Amino acid sequence: MSKSSITKTANQKPVSEIEVNPWPSSVKSKAGNPDIAIVGLGYVGLPLSLQFALSGVAVLGLDIDQAKVDALVEGRSYIKHIPSKTVAEFVSNGRFVASTDFKRVREVDAVIICVPTPLNKNREPDISFILETGKSIAPHLRKGAVVVLESTTYPGTTDEDLREVLEAGSGMKAGEGFHLAFSPEREDPGNPDSKVAIIPKIIGGYTPACLKKAQSFYARAIKTLVPVSSCRVAEAAKLLENTFRGVNIALVNELKVVYSAMGIDVWEVINAAKTKPFGFMAFYPGPGLGGHCIPIDPFYLTWKAREFGQHTRFIELAGEINTAMPEYVVHRVSEALNDRGRAIKGSRILVLGLAYKADVDDERESPSYVLMEMLKKRGAQVNYYDPFVPVIRPTREHAHWAGTKSIEWNMKLIKSFDLVLISTKHSSVNYQELAEWSNCIVDTRNAMAGITVKSSQVWKA
Ligand SMILES: NC(=O)c1ccc[n+]([C@@H]2O[C@H](COP(=O)([O-])OP(=O)(O)OC[C@H]3O[C@@H](n4cnc5c(N)ncnc54)[C@H](O)[C@@H]3O)[C@@H](O)[C@H]2O)c1
Repeated sequence: MSKSSITKTANQKPVSEIEVNPWPSSVKSKAGNPDIAIVGLGYVGLPLSLQFALSGVAVLGLDIDQAKVDALVEGRSYIKHIPSKTVAEFVSNGRFVASTDFKRVREVDAVIICVPTPLNKNREPDISFILETGKSIAPHLRKGAVVVLESTTYPGTTDEDLREVLEAGSGMKAGEGFHLAFSPEREDPGNPDSKVAIIPKIIGGYTPACLKKAQSFYARAIKTLVPVSSCRVAEAAKLLENTFRGVNIALVNELKVVYSAMGIDVWEVINAAKTKPFGFMAFYPGPGLGGHCIPIDPFYLTWKAREFGQHTRFIELAGEINTAMPEYVVHRVSEALNDRGRAIKGSRILVLGLAYKADVDDERESPSYVLMEMLKKRGAQVNYYDPFVPVIRPTREHAHWAGTKSIEWNMKLIKSFDLVLISTKHSSVNYQELAEWSNCIVDTRNAMAGITVKSSQVWKA
């Protein structure tokens, strides 16, 4: 480790201050060479970089996306809940520098990888981003440096796949020439109580020395570290966490349909059940799964389990139920319109909320896209409103929606729709106004709870 980094450790902010305000601009001194490189400056990598910077660690942020790097160099954030002011502050005081130059890995003692882990079109794990990153950093790895993977993936990725490319590219052995570890991210975008510094962090090393080295870095920014015996246990723990969510969401989604047929409101049931102070945890139904994690990660395990002749029946069943939700929602839309003597075909339908969850600007894997697609296919004229997504960015999966703009929120426009379908419950939306302006609302998020509505104005779905 460089001498400069030891000085910076002494400047480290106490974690208690980090807890109170996640992004205060306070480190004024200019930093020297970076101590740590974070590769992949997205929803996970950027907040992590800023947390390290806040803790007094000089961070080199690396990404292949030139536009993102340019924005960061200019002190601009491209993630809604991260203020540009914070990025600008750390750029100007030298705690954070963004670059596309992977040769700069030779300047640091630790590299943390936060790149995407999607499924390919056959719904199999695509770890190509991890392997590409491994190839880019390997030739520049310093002796004794630690490489930590944070991307969610199947057990074995770190100590098999990533290790192989790092060893081939660096000419060093993991656990001897360089250290290797896995530490899953637990970022909860949009949740104001979710702060990188105070969320306990699981770490598994390839060897005990690898674990120790990785812990020494994370301890500079994270309050509670949870060491486990191997990279595989750490990888498996992350998959357990996300599978747990996926399975429980499937359970309440199924109960929603069953209870609805019995004339019982599942939301009221959950609110009653969650008063139990032990042995119960509330999960809520919705229009289907969305985001980068829950719809994807469990299938990493399913794929890997096959190699061992094992079947992940809970995961498959939960996937089946959750994937069927948009179909159910469209069925409810058709019932609501039918009640007014209309068909989906020819109706003007507004999808309220494009982001996959409340109060974020992330619409990856959002079920709203599936709903819009299904309604359009049935002949509806579909628009969307989302204050967080003013225009749809080009994506591989939903290319033909690219450039479509959110409608404006005003009485005249909202009144012009035959039906409003609430698919995301953004807190900035005025649901009282919605009740006054639309007489046919299908609500998948219980957003209209507590608002006085006329009978059969709101259809829960
Ligand atoms: N978003 C979340 O809430 C969340 C939570 C927990 C875990 N994760 C996991 O963290 C990982 C990253 O997710 P994310 O949401 O930050 O993704 P993201 O798409 O927001 O960011 C990934 C970044 O990596 C960059 N990148 C891609 N290939 C690269 C390469 N070869 N070299 C350098 N940079 C490259 C992209 O340009 C992008 O900026 C995934 O494995 C995800 O499953 C995400």
